[in-house]
Amino acid sequence: MTLIDGKATAATIKAEIKQEVEQIVAQGGRRPHLAAILVGHDGGSETYVKNKVLACEACGFESSLIRYEEDITEEELLACVSQLNSDANVDGFIVQLPLPRHINEQRIIEAIDYRKDVDGFHPINVGRMAIGLPCFISATPLGILTLLRRYQVPTRGKKCVILGRSNIVGKPMAQLMMQKQYGDATVTVCHSRSEGLKEECRQADILIAAIGQPGFVTADMVKEGATVIDVGTTRVPDSTRKNGYRLSGDVLFDEVAPKCSFITPVPGGVGPMTICTLMLNTLSAAKKEFYQ
Ligand code: GUN
Repeated sequence: MTLIDGKATAATIKAEIKQEVEQIVAQGGRRPHLAAILVGHDGGSETYVKNKVLACEACGFESSLIRYEEDITEEELLACVSQLNSDANVDGFIVQLPLPRHINEQRIIEAIDYRKDVDGFHPINVGRMAIGLPCFISATPLGILTLLRRYQVPTRGKKCVILGRSNIVGKPMAQLMMQKQYGDATVTVCHSRSEGLKEECRQADILIAAIGQPGFVTADMVKEGATVIDVGTTRVPDSTRKNGYRLSGDVLFDEVAPKCSFITPVPGGVGPMTICTLMLNTLSAAKKEFYQ
C-alpha cells in the first residue's frame, strides 16, 4: 500500500511554481497576481483565504485581499468584481464562498471574467472542461488528477467509481476521468439514491469518495488492490483538539488502507492539493495559457 502524500506533493509543486516565477521575473516579467474577495467573518472562509495568501507568498506571487462586511449589497459586490475584471494588474481572482444569503452566488460567479476565473466555477470554464477544451479546472478535481498523475496510478481503461454528484467535485471529476486526455477511464457516478452502491464500489479500480459522510466507505466496499481517493473533510467535534474539532474523511481509513494499492489520508491527502492547484491556475492565467 502506498500512502499518497498530498502535503508533500503540494509543497513540491509550490516550489516548482516559485522557481518558474523567479525565472519569469529574472527575464523582466511581472509576478502573477491573485486577488481574493472575502465577505464576512466565517471561520472556515477566513482560514481558507489566509492559507491562499500564504501560498501566494510561497510561490512568489503578488496577492490582494479585499474584505467586505456581511451587509455588502449584491450591487456593491458586482462593482468590485467588475473592477477586478478590468484591472490589468490582476491575473486571476476568487470570490470566497459561501456568500451571505441575500447575495445570489451564481450571479456573482457569472459576473467574473472567465479568463480570470482561476476557481474554474464560471459556466464557460465548466462547459469547456466538459468538452475537453483548454480552461481553468476547479481546485479539487485538478488536485486529484495531479495526485493520480504524480503517483503514476494507472487510470486508462480502468473502472472508476465516484461517490457524490456535486458541482464542485463529483460532476467535474466524472467528466475528467472519462476523457481521453485525462483519466481515459470507465466512469460510474453513485449518489444518495443509487441502488446497488456497495456492489458498484466493489468493482472499482479507483474509488473517489466525495459525499461528506464520515467513515461511509468500509473495507467490504473496496476491491483488493484498488486506489481510494478520500475527498471528505467533515468537521467532527473533538475535545482533545485545541480548536475543538478534527477533520474526518469519507473513508474508514484503518480498515480500508490495507486493501489498497494507493490511498489518500485525511488530513494530508486531497486537502493540501486544492490551494496548490489554485496557484497552478493563477500561473496559467498570468501566462495566458488558455485565453488571450
Ligand atoms: N469555498 C470552499 N472552497 C472554495 C473554493 O475552492 N473557492 C471558493 N471561491 N470558495 C470556496
